[in-house]
Amino acid sequence: MTSIDPLTFPPGFLWGAATASYQIEGAATEDGRTPSIWDTFSHTPGKTLGGDTGDVACDHYHRYREDVALMKDLGVGAYRFSIAWPRVQPGGSGPMNAQGLDFYRRLVDELLEHDILPWVTLYHWDLPQELEDAGGWPNRDTAARFAEYAVQVHAALGDRVRNWTTFNEPWCSAFLGYASGVHAPGRQHAPDGLAAMHHLLLGHGEAVRAIRAADPEAKLGITLNLYAISPADPASPGDLDAARRIDGLANRIFLDPVLLGRYPEDVRQDLAGISDFGFVRDGDLETIAAPLDLLGINYYSRHVVGAPDPDVPAEPYWRAPTSWPGSEDVRFLKRPGVPVTDMDWEVDAPGLTETLVRVAKEYPPVPLYITENGAAYADTVEPDGSVDDADRVAYFDAHFRACHDAIAAGAPLHGYFAWSLLDNFEWAWGYTKRFGMVRVDYATQQRTIKASGHRYREVTKHNGLAG
Ligand code: FCB
Repeated sequence: MTSIDPLTFPPGFLWGAATASYQIEGAATEDGRTPSIWDTFSHTPGKTLGGDTGDVACDHYHRYREDVALMKDLGVGAYRFSIAWPRVQPGGSGPMNAQGLDFYRRLVDELLEHDILPWVTLYHWDLPQELEDAGGWPNRDTAARFAEYAVQVHAALGDRVRNWTTFNEPWCSAFLGYASGVHAPGRQHAPDGLAAMHHLLLGHGEAVRAIRAADPEAKLGITLNLYAISPADPASPGDLDAARRIDGLANRIFLDPVLLGRYPEDVRQDLAGISDFGFVRDGDLETIAAPLDLLGINYYSRHVVGAPDPDVPAEPYWRAPTSWPGSEDVRFLKRPGVPVTDMDWEVDAPGLTETLVRVAKEYPPVPLYITENGAAYADTVEPDGSVDDADRVAYFDAHFRACHDAIAAGAPLHGYFAWSLLDNFEWAWGYTKRFGMVRVDYATQQRTIKASGHRYREVTKHNGLAG
């Protein structure tokens, strides 16, 4: 155990806020931006709730100054945002679009003027549509396109941006995008999902190598969405095996190649009926395991799983069976009495500690950052316009404590980014799910700091839970 004050985080702990391009920017056709797979998908009837799209979203493209001022007001020390690939390199290959890059230059300058560290995600799901038309992530060439794009974005912003992550949640891009199809581009073919996974990881490794060669001092990493996993009944061999399989597909199939340079053998065997992993070429795993300066972890909840039972109905959305290639028969359970968020995700803060400690224990040392954590709740606006989101305040507080517990247990956690700064376009759920510390009235674009934002201001100010 490391000895630290129970309420305070180590000096220099980074308190940040996170967003993603398609979820907040809007300005979908402005200044040379061309469609991404999320434009196409959200404009396809039936793909998002209510037919919602990111056309306007939070109009952050025009209101970024106001949004940076909000961050400053909340005492946020770092801002994690993503670059929209089709804004800066329309079509996904060839020359860069100066107007698109200029937006991010203005944003970065604004952040630095407010002493907020810019933290760039190069890919948060908005693949240029042309690259999907050429085969998308199941096509190996997309990895090379990504590395080229990454190097050029770094060349434009690298003098002022020092922290870079390549991908946000490749699990979602690969399996929700190409296996279950509940996310863009909406394809439903498990072997493509696995090929997409490998090429996302390959693109990560190639980009890390290329940026490293250009800028040895840059801090480089990737963000994975990791889950705590439990068997429904720890005494049941079937449930234990279900937990092993889901841990394999959610966590280890990404952690192992990135940090250990290999795919987990048991998971490859689980997947043998779907893919022979013929997409892996000599040298790929070495590339994928290029040394990192940081690992970003997005943590939201725990999966409690059980052995197959044909009488139990399938779960909707990302727990849709086909989001889990080769383990479509595993049951996802909800524990009676455990509170859930508006996403129907169980609130499980100890799972965050468990996840951090597990990564620290089972993998080679790498500085860890929580790059997303937060909760959707159906907020109520009071007559005076305020939002007293007590449930979100409680969610955040419990997870701050969980981070603190992980540090006390020796996990090298250096920062935390709340998801999200603003209410925003929640993918297939459209605007129905609100994750923000700041409410957005989509009709007027008015921003209102919620109670959770006011609470976060106290946390950033005291570097912890005092006050
Ligand atoms: C994560 C995504 C992020 C947001 C949160 C709620 O999977 O990275 O964009 O949608 O979930």
